[in-house]
Amino acid sequence: MTGMHLWIFGSACASERPATEALWRADVSGESATICCTRSDIPHAHEPRSLVTFSFTLQGWREKYSSQRQYDTMTSDPEFPDDFRADLANLFLWRRDVRRFKPTPLPEGALERLLDISSIAPSVGLSQPWRFVMVESAECRAAVRTCFERCNAEALASFGGERAALYARLKLAGLNEAPCQFAVFADRGTEQGHGLGRLTMPATIEYSAVMAIHTFWLAARAEGIGMGWVSILDPADMATILDVPPEWTLIGYFCVGYPNENHSVPELEREGWEVRRASIVITR
Ligand SMILES: Cc1cc2nc3c(=O)[nH]c(=O)nc-3n(C[C@H](O)[C@H](O)[C@H](O)COP(=O)(O)O)c2cc1C
Repeated sequence: MTGMHLWIFGSACASERPATEALWRADVSGESATICCTRSDIPHAHEPRSLVTFSFTLQGWREKYSSQRQYDTMTSDPEFPDDFRADLANLFLWRRDVRRFKPTPLPEGALERLLDISSIAPSVGLSQPWRFVMVESAECRAAVRTCFERCNAEALASFGGERAALYARLKLAGLNEAPCQFAVFADRGTEQGHGLGRLTMPATIEYSAVMAIHTFWLAARAEGIGMGWVSILDPADMATILDVPPEWTLIGYFCVGYPNENHSVPELEREGWEVRRASIVITR
């Protein structure tokens, strides 16, 4: 294959036919190929605005591609034994919103693995509208912290009496400690999925992004990695800080790393802010 292109949709999907929805186009020469990331909405790129080039061998791609395809081949009525179900229930129980992190960085490849797993989350019309923006620069992290501090002060001012005193004691973000931080946006402008399912319910684009986040959250916990959701932020300020397209809506900001402690009870419950109850269910 020389002088051809591969149109790449994600780590598990490529086509030799041109596609406007493709995230990358790889120029193929012999058995190797080079990807030029020129689009601004590349979910996995660490610097979404920059031009990134990297090369890979077609053999390496095929190996990765075929391992990803295991997701597809597991359709022959997989069995999940009782032990697995018990472990899964434990995973749900011990998934926590983490705000206290060790400084230890994530091991090599862990983030990429979790992002890959997130990419198989359900999405409206298979639109996969989640956009991960990795926040690595000191300037961006400082700006996010400033935004959080202002919004948190406004939130504190909205409470009075004992509730305000309790709120002031809560730790509501791990922005100073978390080694890995990213924002997730939902791309309302995406053409992927051709609008299926969202004509009457456009917010399904945001719901889909939440599904990817939850998938990431559980998969991370399965590796002993904790994640904390930060929503005490101003979406307009965040869009400016992170320089993202106007059609992207902020879903949240996420702090990821190894937790200082593990608990089966939410921190807000342990601090006396709220208690977890049974779900509300009604019947018509
Ligand atoms: C949409 C959403 C936004 C959240 N925003 C924050 C936040 O800004 N700060 C925070 O400390 N926790 C935040 N959380 C975490 C919740 O406080 C936490 O999920 C809840 O207290 C239950 O605890 P658990 O996740 O450990 O079970 C958020 C969670 C969700 C789902």
